[in-house]
Amino acid sequence: MAQIFTASADTRLRASLLAVFLCMFLIVLVVGGYADSSYGTLVGWVQDQSVPFSHEHHVAGLGIDCRYCHTSVETSARAGLPATHTCMSCHSQIWTGAAMLAPVRHSLAADVPLHWNRVSRLPDYVYFNHSIHITRGVPCVTCHGRVDQMPLMTRAEPFQMQWCLNCHRNPGPNLRPPAEVTRMDWSDWDAHPDLHKDFGELVVKTYGIEPAKLTQCNICHR
Ligand code: HEC
Ligand code: HEC
Ligand code: HEC
Ligand code: HEC
Ligand code: HEC
Repeated sequence: MAQIFTASADTRLRASLLAVFLCMFLIVLVVGGYADSSYGTLVGWVQDQSVPFSHEHHVAGLGIDCRYCHTSVETSARAGLPATHTCMSCHSQIWTGAAMLAPVRHSLAADVPLHWNRVSRLPDYVYFNHSIHITRGVPCVTCHGRVDQMPLMTRAEPFQMQWCLNCHRNPGPNLRPPAEVTRMDWSDWDAHPDLHKDFGELVVKTYGIEPAKLTQCNICHR
């Protein structure tokens, strides 16, 4: 039988297979590195918005509670973004002529909601629910960072699966009194790790929170 592959063809085949393998390996490295980098996770990046709304001014400066604007955070899956009339309850009196606020006035006049570019967002195949986290006492700051120090909103956490799972495996130590979930500065609470631990254990027991269930795939992928 005639030889189909010469010895040199065989070497070339091996060499090209090795090259293909190396390329695939590099692609995995690059894509993996991208997904973990701030480019991939968008941590710390600012979104352009038509109105440069400052959480620092409104939360730290004026002392407005998160729930005044994110009204459905305790009761539904979504926190909700404020309606134009929420802004106008103040800005019909304060800074009424400011150019910065022109889109807000236009939105009210035209009866068209303001458009905000989203900062923290999960892929569609992941299910998330604010109300269950808030009622169990997971504070906003754990997932969204020091919002009161953000002149423009940035994403504080990568929201990767591993990050969610890290807490779901042992939520107790991350829980605070639900009435105080919107408080940003927790230094006085964190200064008492023992109380903190006892409180977490009590909540886990009271609500029958089961880490073994919380890490099941169908909790977040339904
Ligand atoms: C409880 C009253 C109140 C509400 C509600 C409110 N603001 Fe303000 N806003 C203020 C005050 C007061 C200032 C001036 C702050 C300063 O100069 O320290 C201000 C300032 C601003 C500024 C100027 C830039 C800055 O941050 O100093 C923008 C833009 C703005 N607000 C947008 C909004 C938008 C958009 C909403 C609705 C989502 C809103 N505000 C809701 C009271 C309010
Ligand atoms: C006066 C109204 C107001 C208050 C008070 C307020 N926010 Fe907001 N928030 C907004 C507006 C308007 C946006 C959309 C613009 C932006 O992203 O900055 C927003 C956006 C956000 C986002 C980004 C959502 C996304 O995916 O784009 C988070 C997270 C957030 N707020 C958390 C908080 C937390 C936590 C508090 C309390 C510490 C708070 N906010 C208080 C008005 C408010
Ligand atoms: C356990 C983590 C976690 C906690 C606690 C949490 N958030 Fe979120 N938040 C998220 C995630 C994840 C998203 C993106 C959801 C999506 O894209 O489906 C989000 C989205 C948002 C948004 C965007 C708009 C929307 O309707 O969802 C706002 C506003 C917001 N959060 C505000 C808050 C406020 C205010 C609190 C505290 C009262 C809070 N969040 C507590 C994780 C959290
Ligand atoms: C800091 C802790 C913490 C983080 C971070 C966290 N969770 Fe949770 N999660 C909890 C707790 C506590 C519960 C409530 C468990 C219970 O009551 O049984 C919960 C419950 C849930 C539930 C169940 C809701 C239901 O209806 O049963 C879903 C879905 C969920 N989390 C999704 C997520 C996703 C997705 C992320 C990441 C983007 C995330 N969580 C990050 C602590 C956390
Ligand atoms: C606590 C919530 C949670 C649980 C439980 C969970 N996932 Fe995920 N999963 C996520 C989030 C959030 C993402 C989105 C990650 C991103 O955007 O980077 C994700 C992404 C994924 C992806 C897409 C690829 C990737 O890794 O980004 C796959 C596949 C996946 N999950 C499979 C699973 C399987 C299998 C299980 C059960 C063993 C599981 N997940 C349990 C939250 C969860």
